[in-house]
Amino acid sequence: MREKLQALKEAALSDLEKIESLEALKNLKVQYLGKKGSLTEILRGMGALSAEERPKIGQLVNELRAELEEKINAFNKQLEEKDLAEKIAKEKVDISLPGRVPAHGHLHPITLTMREIKSIFMRMGFDVTEGPEIENDYFNFEALNLPKDHPARDMQDSFYITEEYLLRTHTSPVQARTMQSKKNNEPVRMIAPGKVYRRDYDATHSPMFHQVEGLVIDQEISLADLKGTLELFLKEMFGSSVKIRLRPSFFPFTEPSAEVDISCVICGGKGCRVCKNSGWLEILGSGMVHPNVLTMSGYDPEVVSGFAFGMGVERIAMLKYGIDDLRLFFENDLRFIRQFK
Ligand code: PHE
Repeated sequence: MREKLQALKEAALSDLEKIESLEALKNLKVQYLGKKGSLTEILRGMGALSAEERPKIGQLVNELRAELEEKINAFNKQLEEKDLAEKIAKEKVDISLPGRVPAHGHLHPITLTMREIKSIFMRMGFDVTEGPEIENDYFNFEALNLPKDHPARDMQDSFYITEEYLLRTHTSPVQARTMQSKKNNEPVRMIAPGKVYRRDYDATHSPMFHQVEGLVIDQEISLADLKGTLELFLKEMFGSSVKIRLRPSFFPFTEPSAEVDISCVICGGKGCRVCKNSGWLEILGSGMVHPNVLTMSGYDPEVVSGFAFGMGVERIAMLKYGIDDLRLFFENDLRFIRQFK
């Protein structure tokens, strides 16, 4: 038995010396140490040994197994390193090949429009303020002169969270929040951009959309200031040839109220499908801040006056880029989005 083991060891070591590839080494390992290998075969013959000899031979077998395994593994590592070194030596890097250009993202058309609106008003000295999207009944309605059960609440079909809280239906609550953060009839000149929510869904309405609110308060602010400010803004936004028109309207928080139209940017005012042959496009709501709204938020309507406006960002983006379905903004179809690179 001992001789057999000794012979096996010698055979294995001399075979190992002749090995040149990883593949051959793997075969050798199976041949000597595998389930049907030579060493296992010797183990099988141990039944014939005496009880005294058996553990001694067993130990020898284990030692031989460990020794062979160690040698094979060490050689395996050596071969792997050699292979890698050969591969690296053979590989040629073509440094003249152009690199891979990383994919660049870009801004969404609503973000682009939002930024442009902000930048125009910032140049006119407006602050940019924000308010919460989950708003309470008081700021969304009451403080804007829309008491409970006022019929004008129906103009804005709302998502209520509780009886007290809802997703804001417009950015106008930021008017009241801004006023209430100030004292002593301090002048205000701010815009408040953000998301608003209404229960609407069709080609020109989405349950979530964006508005930009504006509020100016100071001594002797008049309708002329409102008109001048909005005219300048709209000319910056749509080009200097654009004309504007104020149409009487109603909002509970402004008095008088006006809808502001621009001459149609598609046909230049001649009349087309987009302006429904009127030559005009409705663009935003506005008015002089209602005395009740000033009073409720701590301003004295005898001392100051103000104007406010609110515009839909999607509507402005649609007219600016000639998009006929608002839902495209939120479907995230890359064929649409990529056109704004
Ligand atoms: N909040 C109004 C709306 O969403 C717009 C508006 C704002 C009108 C400010 C007048 C003054 O319809």
